Amino acid sequence: MADPAISQRLDELRETIRHHEYRYYVLDSPEISDAEYDAFFQELQELEAAHPELVTADSPTQRVGGEPLPGFVQVRHLEPMLSLANAKNEEELKAWYARLMKLCADAGTDYWDLPFVLEPKIDGLAVSLRYEEGRLAIGATRGNGDIGEDVTQNIRTIPSVPLALRPEAQPFPSVVEVRGEVYLPLEAFARLNEQRLAAGEPTFANPRNAAAGSLRQLDPRVTASRPLAAWFYGVGYVEGVEFPTQQSVLEWLRQGGFRVNPHIRAAAGADDIVEAFRWWQDHRADLDYDIDGVVVKLDNRQLQGVLGAVGRDPRWAVAFKFPPTTAQTKLLSININVGRTGVLNPWALLEPVEVGGVTVERATLHNEEDIKRKDLREGDIVVLQRAGDVIPQIVAPLTDLRTGLEKPFHMPDKCPSCGTAVVRVPREVAVRCPNPDCPAKRSESIKHFVSKSAMDIDGVGEKLVDRLLELGLIKDAAGLYLVKPGQLANLERLGEKSAANIVGAIEASKTRPPDRVLFALGIPHVGAENAELLIERFGSVAELSRASAEEIAETPGIGPVIAASVHEFFRDPRNQDLLSRLEEAGLKISEAAEAPAKGAEGGPLTGKTFVLTGTLPSLSRQEATEMIEARGGRVTDSVSAKTNYLVVGESPGSKLAKAEKLGVPILDEEGLRHLVAG
Ligand code: IVH
Repeated sequence: MADPAISQRLDELRETIRHHEYRYYVLDSPEISDAEYDAFFQELQELEAAHPELVTADSPTQRVGGEPLPGFVQVRHLEPMLSLANAKNEEELKAWYARLMKLCADAGTDYWDLPFVLEPKIDGLAVSLRYEEGRLAIGATRGNGDIGEDVTQNIRTIPSVPLALRPEAQPFPSVVEVRGEVYLPLEAFARLNEQRLAAGEPTFANPRNAAAGSLRQLDPRVTASRPLAAWFYGVGYVEGVEFPTQQSVLEWLRQGGFRVNPHIRAAAGADDIVEAFRWWQDHRADLDYDIDGVVVKLDNRQLQGVLGAVGRDPRWAVAFKFPPTTAQTKLLSININVGRTGVLNPWALLEPVEVGGVTVERATLHNEEDIKRKDLREGDIVVLQRAGDVIPQIVAPLTDLRTGLEKPFHMPDKCPSCGTAVVRVPREVAVRCPNPDCPAKRSESIKHFVSKSAMDIDGVGEKLVDRLLELGLIKDAAGLYLVKPGQLANLERLGEKSAANIVGAIEASKTRPPDRVLFALGIPHVGAENAELLIERFGSVAELSRASAEEIAETPGIGPVIAASVHEFFRDPRNQDLLSRLEEAGLKISEAAEAPAKGAEGGPLTGKTFVLTGTLPSLSRQEATEMIEARGGRVTDSVSAKTNYLVVGESPGSKLAKAEKLGVPILDEEGLRHLVAG
């Protein structure tokens, strides 16, 4: 007979541990430290080891147990697991809504303002957990909807899955099937793939596959090593309890100890649904899990029953899907574009395909190494991915679909524009055309010169630049300033008026400040920010052009590689010639930049770069900027590795995440005031 004091302590420990697991895994709000939790857990383990006859199946120590299975056993769900019809866009959603309203009216419902529940559509793996007398009895995959696979041993290893219902789950059904989605958090997915790559094992294509692979392990210890999580959103068979609404189901799940997604919300009417959908679309990237749409459910369960299903798809619910961010298409050819510095950039011509709501027919391919690593071949069917507003990427070829006619890629050894033998830059993956007269380089340099962030010459686009080069009207950027309206007016589709406008725009660009002129020259490694730093230090382009590499490298924020590149550029007689012709044309080459009016040289913040984000409690943006500049600091728009401080207020933007990633120190207003006070 067991000592009642021991049984009591075991009960207490289990209660305590369950409570803290619930706080930690389900509510995400722990009450004790990890060490305190570990102490309870260890005490329980030791006590159970001493009294094995007192171990219960729902003890927190019993999540990972049992031997590897020879195979999975099939189980029949007590109630079928349904699926969902899709709405691919707003029109389809509105059509579904209109049909539903009609059906509700036919069913005699006064259908105005019918409440709906909107849930994220988790991109994971559907599971059904059967609790008998409050204890987890069976955990199963969806299978074909009627019969799934028994993965109970694996489900038990997921820490947020209750092994027993909390007594707060009232009413307390003797049998209930709880439905939800198991997933692998994105961070865990990335880590898992890194580990697999390092171990030479095949990686998972996406978090969904990784979750599926992890749940369908015959050895539960493997599953336990993968940090799976779950969200719960429904019930199947329930013995003796009627839930009036979907909201009441969700509330019961919360009470029972299940993880219910905190973003679930109510909606009424199609417009409300569409608005919520857009919110999800904007915020999905912030989540730690993939969602592929929003599930819209009629709240009233009795009405759900009346409406029924078409096949497996209930009439009362729909999956309002986001446009897919991946697609498959054919890689037609790999082409080369020669950049302004002569780098050969491969790019892919694709069979046009819609991905993430836009039609894509080109993708950048970065460099030769990238193409080799992915083993991309002309003619391959490839997976394209476009996340948010990012440029489309080719993820991988579908090698299974190869016919044998695909052509592997080789970087040309001659420049496709001028035929000069290319050179490989040591320690860089890039291949360059060394010919300073290469027509492609000329054309790209001029296009950079006129672009918005450089000289911003309105009306001189890529086509016009190429046309002017072709006709021999210009040879480089300086030539633009000699073009006469009459020469332009003769060009195809250009009237006198637009010719005059273009010449006016070219003329107006002469007033651009020296740092813009420097950036427009297109010196390798000199972007807008570096150009600003260099002009700040040397005052003018002419002064910089006379500096030694060592002097340039003394500029705060400018390293030896950039300095060497700048120095080399100005040593080239062609570039010196370009510079003097630009000066003749009237550009600010020798003219010094207007001195920073603040007279703050030598202030305590000299050389320090700040970025502001969010709303500060008492300072306006303007005031904060003035405060920093008055002490010699600079305020720039975007966070980079060169940023010294990010000043953060209420509702910061993406700059915060970027600063955290780069390890940029973060200040609030008070911190800024301290710094300024020295
Ligand atoms: S309800 C009422 N709710 O989507 C119909 N399903 O295409 C039963 N899913 O098999 C599903 N999140 O794997 C429902 N909040 C959610 C969901 C969800 C993801 C998955 C589930 C289901 C599939 C249907």
